[in-house]
Amino acid sequence: MLSRGSVAIDLGTVNTLVWVDGRGLVLEEPSTIAIDDSVGSVAAIGTAAEALAGKEPKDIRVIHPLRDGVIADLDATAEMLHGFLRKSGALGGPFKRRVVVCVPGGATWVERRSVAAVFGARRSRCAVELVDEPVAAAAGAGFDLNSGVGGFIVDIGGGTTEVAAVAGWRVVRAESLRMAGNAMDEAIITAARSGLGVILSQRAARQLKSELGLTGGPNGWAEAVGLDAARRTPRVEKVPGDLVAEALEPVVSAIGGTVQGVLSDIPAGLAEDVVLGQIRVSGGGALLPGLADRLEEVAGIGVAVADDPLRCVVRGAAAMLGAGQAPGAGAR
Ligand SMILES: Nc1ncnc2c1ncn2[C@@H]1O[C@H](COP(=O)(O)OP(=O)(O)OP(=O)(O)O)[C@@H](O)[C@H]1O
Ligand SMILES: [Mg+2]
Repeated sequence: MLSRGSVAIDLGTVNTLVWVDGRGLVLEEPSTIAIDDSVGSVAAIGTAAEALAGKEPKDIRVIHPLRDGVIADLDATAEMLHGFLRKSGALGGPFKRRVVVCVPGGATWVERRSVAAVFGARRSRCAVELVDEPVAAAAGAGFDLNSGVGGFIVDIGGGTTEVAAVAGWRVVRAESLRMAGNAMDEAIITAARSGLGVILSQRAARQLKSELGLTGGPNGWAEAVGLDAARRTPRVEKVPGDLVAEALEPVVSAIGGTVQGVLSDIPAGLAEDVVLGQIRVSGGGALLPGLADRLEEVAGIGVAVADDPLRCVVRGAAAMLGAGQAPGAGAR
């Protein structure tokens, strides 16, 4: 059951969120760490580290230690996470804490073990449990999983898209696609280089993505600053909405295909719940202009963007602690 000071962590590819029972959300920062190679120590974590991405000073290495929702660099992830926990005071005090960490539904056993392992030295001070990200996302998106009513969630993060039908804190059918917001950024960078001859940073690509999305935004274009691919000098470019929408198309079709796949596999007993509750979309990708309409066309039923989509997973994991739910994701 819930003990005061229990901690819920959404360790995401792009953002990490930490929630502490009794205090609420105590940390929300990019999953980024900067290492100073001249002295071999941590130069910055989170927001301060992400501010250096793409413009690293000499000797500084900016690392995104998670890829596709799972740990790609164990040491860097552990350093980052311990830094976040210190900064937020989440594990302060003498008591042993219950800590729930979300992992992608498609994570392998090895990947799950490595998430548990990042707590290494702190293991004595916390009991780590892993939970499936889509179940947490569904709870955070407002589905009442205590009641046994089912729901259908699409969580579009930076590294993975989790599509799941859930009921009673369990996954009924699910698929995890290792393609989400980062793949959209890369697609925009590639299209801008080949179509306009301009090299964009990931920051600039993200800006275009959230401004133009699939609809072209209010003006049908947006300004971006990059480097001229031939001359390597700074250039201000008017980027057409069409170019961005076309670039996003393969990623959005893959997400749509995954939704169709899971939807066509649900048991008949869940159909009414899914229609009544609508498909809910969470994660930062839910904010992509035009995405919900597109998924509605594909699915043929209502699609709603969850409230505060970037925080659904951590909110749901916190609710799970409160509901005294046993984790459904294996390794601890
Ligand atoms: N307004 C927006 N429009 C489109 N995409 C957005 C918007 N705001 C944020 N994003 C994207 O959402 C992604 C981050 O979402 P989120 O924090 O849910 O991912 P994550 O949990 O870190 O990743 P994962 O769940 O894959 O491990 C990034 O790719 C970011 O660019
Ligand atoms: Mg996520």
